[in-house]
Amino acid sequence: MALDFADRELPDGLILRVRREQDAGPLAAAYQRNRGHLAPWDPTRTEDFFTEAGQLAQIRELLALREMDAALPLVIADGDQIAGGVTLSHLVRGAFQSANIGYWLDRDHVGRGLASAAIAAVIEVARDDYGLHRIQAATMLANHASQSVLTRAGFERIGVAPNYLEIAGRWQDHVLFQRILHD
Ligand SMILES: CC(C)(COP(=O)(O)OP(=O)(O)OC[C@H]1O[C@@H](n2cnc3c(N)ncnc32)[C@H](O)[C@@H]1OP(=O)(O)O)[C@@H](O)C(=O)NCCC(=O)NCCS
Repeated sequence: MALDFADRELPDGLILRVRREQDAGPLAAAYQRNRGHLAPWDPTRTEDFFTEAGQLAQIRELLALREMDAALPLVIADGDQIAGGVTLSHLVRGAFQSANIGYWLDRDHVGRGLASAAIAAVIEVARDDYGLHRIQAATMLANHASQSVLTRAGFERIGVAPNYLEIAGRWQDHVLFQRILHD
């Protein structure tokens, strides 16, 4: 059963909504535009990632995971362009009821609280509609913007996980954060 998500309005008239196949072209354009902006914080991407075909394959994979109750892939839409993305992934049920959250914004949209607004909307749905207990995030030690967004959204710092993710071609230490949804 797919995880439901009703479109949400964000500041500046942007819309947070579920990713769809028609986003492949605009997403490829957004990733091309933001290649330098995202490179320090992202895994090393193949050239295929920056093409419409590569994005379509990714979207299909994520939508299949959504059908399996394992992921919620969202975009921040700015008319027919894409201004960012938020994804809940690795959603695990049973005694864990936990998911990971990842997010990014177009370089021309940072600093206006958009990521904070989008994360707040996802937290609400994860708690009230999906019955999750916890959301986890991992940021690189130097990613102060991301850490600030998480703290504002009520996440608490768990600690540093050494060599946690392969980012920009290197296994890098990360600060782990969690937000407990039902206190
Ligand atoms: C992290 C990111 C999503 C934050 O989105 P945002 O909408 O700009 O967030 P906010 O507007 O709420 O700003 C967050 C804070 O970081 C600050 N900030 C923004 N850009 C910054 C930068 N380049 N360096 C340092 N601080 C920055 C803001 O002033 C704000 O500070 P405050 O909390 O003290 O007010 C965005 O910067 C981004 O896409 N970064 C690249 C990808 C990335 O890092 N993704 C997360 C991986 S864990």
